[in-house]
Amino acid sequence: MAQRHLTDGFARRVDYLRMSVTDRCDFRCVYCMAEDMTFLPRQRILTLEELHEMARAFVALGTRKIRLTGGEPLVRAGVVDLCARIAALPGLEELCMTTNGSQLARLAAPLREAGLARLNISLDSLNPERFRQLTRTGDLAQVVAGIDAANAAGFTHTKLNCVVMKGRNDDEINDLVAFAIDRGLDISFIEEMPLGVITEHSRAEAFFSSEQVRERIAERYTLVPATDTTHGPSRYWRLAQAPDIRIGFISPHSHNFCATCNRVRLTVEGRLLLCLGNEHSVDLKAMLRAHPGQPERLERAIIEAMAIKPARHDFRLDDQVQVVRFMNMTGG
Ligand code: 5AD
Ligand code: SF4
Repeated sequence: MAQRHLTDGFARRVDYLRMSVTDRCDFRCVYCMAEDMTFLPRQRILTLEELHEMARAFVALGTRKIRLTGGEPLVRAGVVDLCARIAALPGLEELCMTTNGSQLARLAAPLREAGLARLNISLDSLNPERFRQLTRTGDLAQVVAGIDAANAAGFTHTKLNCVVMKGRNDDEINDLVAFAIDRGLDISFIEEMPLGVITEHSRAEAFFSSEQVRERIAERYTLVPATDTTHGPSRYWRLAQAPDIRIGFISPHSHNFCATCNRVRLTVEGRLLLCLGNEHSVDLKAMLRAHPGQPERLERAIIEAMAIKPARHDFRLDDQVQVVRFMNMTGG
């Protein structure tokens, strides 16, 4: 049988699935969540078995890379075993995870053993009090211990993710770069995206562009554009002073990366989101539950969903919320 793959209405090959395994998190980052969040009741979220079945269907349809996200994926019970089962799906090339690092001191080694290939770890500040403010509940020392545990467990190409906000952590950009160099990690700086209604700060006022981040870095290091590219939203640079690590910039406002988009997202409610910045979606959980034991029904629904993948997103910078989903419902 010919290899199957997913193609959308704009001839983009979709071979990357980001899958949220929980909407819950032990942190409450100010850009991601409201202080007081209501989480989904258990019957509305996919079971571990259903998450595995979704992953299996996507891999059968040519998905080469899966990233597990949240909320915080490591607060879901059974997630290490789920990783092992997904990593073993024939045809999948890479299973990755985005995590806040709080559970990694305990779980890095078991995750590595389960076949997880790579980690992205969020880190917005190296100052313990500020880290607590930005995450509302987080403990910096625990996360740094988690990062060290990931290195010790043998993870390579680990990437730090830093959301930069003017007046909150923009003065730490070069300290974060130095931390990344010191530990041999890549680091990406992210512009805050308008997902979900927040009142903690004005996103327009906190906006700090990728270009401004690069200017800051250029005060201490020599930035050289990297030649390797991905289909993703990141633009990569290297430092003359530390050529082994990459510095990425994710700029949803400053430039649009939709033309080469290769990804879709699955929420933990089983809703397939075709675009980060649009509401177009298909309820795959309903399909799965309506037709148990008929994987071809689910696969057909996934193939048909590709037709409604939008051409592009268009985030504006005016604090008007265009997408009401929070990031913890979206899957990083
Ligand atoms: N804008 C940009 N990045 C966000 N994240 C969460 N919410 C937002 C937002 N509104 C990022 C976090 C983390 C990942 C899970 O998503 O920094 O790295
Ligand atoms: Fe949790 Fe990540 Fe959202 Fe922070 S950004 S609250 S760590 S899901």
